[in-house]
Amino acid sequence: MSAPRVLFVSHTAVLGGAERMLLDLVGGWEGERRAVLLASGPLRAALEARGVTVDVEPLGALGETRRESAAPGLGALVDVARLASRLAAPAREADVLHANTQKSFVVAAAAGLIARRPVVWHLHDILTTAHFSASNIRAAVMLANTRAAAVIANSEATAAAFRAAGGNAKLVHVVYNGIPSAPFDAVDQEACHAFRAASGDAHAFVIAACGRLAPWKGQHVLVAALEAMPDAVAWIIGRALFGEDRYAETLRIQAAELGVADRVRFLGEREDVPMLLRASDLVVHTSVDPEPFGRVVVEGMLARRPVVAADAGGVPEIIRHGETGWLAPPGDPGALAERIGAVRALAPGERDAVVARAYADAVARFSPAAMVAGVRDVLDSVVSGRRRPG
Ligand code: GLC
Repeated sequence: MSAPRVLFVSHTAVLGGAERMLLDLVGGWEGERRAVLLASGPLRAALEARGVTVDVEPLGALGETRRESAAPGLGALVDVARLASRLAAPAREADVLHANTQKSFVVAAAAGLIARRPVVWHLHDILTTAHFSASNIRAAVMLANTRAAAVIANSEATAAAFRAAGGNAKLVHVVYNGIPSAPFDAVDQEACHAFRAASGDAHAFVIAACGRLAPWKGQHVLVAALEAMPDAVAWIIGRALFGEDRYAETLRIQAAELGVADRVRFLGEREDVPMLLRASDLVVHTSVDPEPFGRVVVEGMLARRPVVAADAGGVPEIIRHGETGWLAPPGDPGALAERIGAVRALAPGERDAVVARAYADAVARFSPAAMVAGVRDVLDSVVSGRRRPG
């Protein structure tokens, strides 16, 4: 059977983890691909560069609805109806709709109803009240149970939270993110040395953190941990993406107050992340709430750096503590510094063995090919289920 024709729908067009996954997914998809974005942004050009036809249908009032808010206003409902009717035509040209975000799932569910096409929700969030209002979770889960042909969760932890919120267990399939290793393998060591030298960090112990700046991603834990690691420098890669600019500012203030500002480099959003991670001495992941998946954990493994990550959410599904990396309790700067110290104190041979095992494990378990095949299985079964007579 040829690959189903897919209409990909996303409400955001910034390049967060979920959007980066979408790029890897469409990049490997063999069937016809078309995308509708409910906002304009860099995701559009990135999709087009992969040969995807993209339409932008901006959100109106629905865009104002916050994930923490109790209920959508009437304006938002009118918006869903308007967008759904706009999506109905491209939806009819596809076999299945793939919604990559919660808001896009609401719109896709309505469009699927009009166009009589199945809708699959790719869930990248752990649905708990730490990030969503209770009524928002209830509404999303109810819509999934009644309108989703399948739900793809980015980890067992994400799937478990969906079920715990009342989500139908039969709908959920876990497909891990797949991350290409080639950009990491292609990094030029000279470029790494040059970057360290230019940053003045040739002799420091460089700890890299990568991800959008947001309170729950916990970059402040790393900044605080620097106090206990006087020879360490932090490279903080990423920027605030969803209105969390104040947090970026508080990180600078925190660093100044702790007297570590000269050891924190805010590198912003970068397109040379593989080089930066390979140029570092250790990669950390510091989320204080359970991380749904944690792409940077896999990226650190692919960069062949020791990885110390927060022990919650999907992360322990990626790292086997002491075998393919190390885990530390979330939100505890002292424990993080201690764990990093313990990793540094290991015999080099022992550390290198973990790093080598981690690289092999990441290539084997988190390849884009495995991800594309996993999503394909789900979409195939959804589409063929509909093709079956009766
Ligand atoms: C979201 C999650 C992150 C995950 C990514 C890809 O950004 O917060 O944990 O890695 O989606 O699934």
